[in-house]
Amino acid sequence: MRDDMIIRRERLEDHAAIAALHDDAFPRVDGAARSVESALIDELRGDGDVIEELTFVAELDGEVIGHVMCSAATLGEEPSVGLGPIAVAPALQQQGIGAALIASVIASAEQRGDAAIVLLGDPAYYAHFGFVAASQHHVRSPGAWEDQYFQIKTLRAWRPEQAGPFRYAPAFERLEA
Ligand SMILES: CC(C)(COP(=O)(O)OP(=O)(O)OC[C@H]1O[C@@H](n2cnc3c(N)ncnc32)[C@H](O)[C@@H]1OP(=O)(O)O)[C@@H](O)C(=O)NCCC(=O)NCCS
Repeated sequence: MRDDMIIRRERLEDHAAIAALHDDAFPRVDGAARSVESALIDELRGDGDVIEELTFVAELDGEVIGHVMCSAATLGEEPSVGLGPIAVAPALQQQGIGAALIASVIASAEQRGDAAIVLLGDPAYYAHFGFVAASQHHVRSPGAWEDQYFQIKTLRAWRPEQAGPFRYAPAFERLEA
């Protein structure tokens, strides 16, 4: 990983750069002006569902080159953590920047005493960080995704009796509607 990169919490003045980053990193549907992901980020902020302590930018030479957002979810009746969206500037991918962002989320979630982090994504990538299919821990998906894509990383505070149905913040559900 580059030694001149900084990982820090996102700030209000980063918002435009974060939106541009997600618009660059994710494909846009049918020539849309914005990616679904940057719109989702606005909705999560608008709803007050962003977990600030688990939402980071990667900065290089004063530019935002990576971003990960976590939001308030529920697992059974308890609060939980949903990870995503995450993006790294296309020209700087495959250099460990995504890994640094995810490691920051995991370390901070451990520090906060969160029990688990849940996400939807490529199992080959997230396995690097100890994510496994959520079904292995009897955590049920809110959508009809293939089992292996809906993943969980259990943390030190995890207790098996916390298993149950997972729900993302409402902005994700509006996305699917
Ligand atoms: C997914 C994404 C965030 C990953 O970020 P990234 O910075 O490219 O990821 P990393 O560099 O940490 O890891 C990518 C690969 O590079 C490898 N890698 C890690 N550190 C590395 C380093 N220092 N040098 C070279 N390769 C490295 C990783 O092992 C990983 O290998 P894998 O392909 O076998 O999994 C990024 O590719 C992205 O923005 N994609 C488009 C948006 C997207 O799909 N978001 C995720 C939706 S779930």
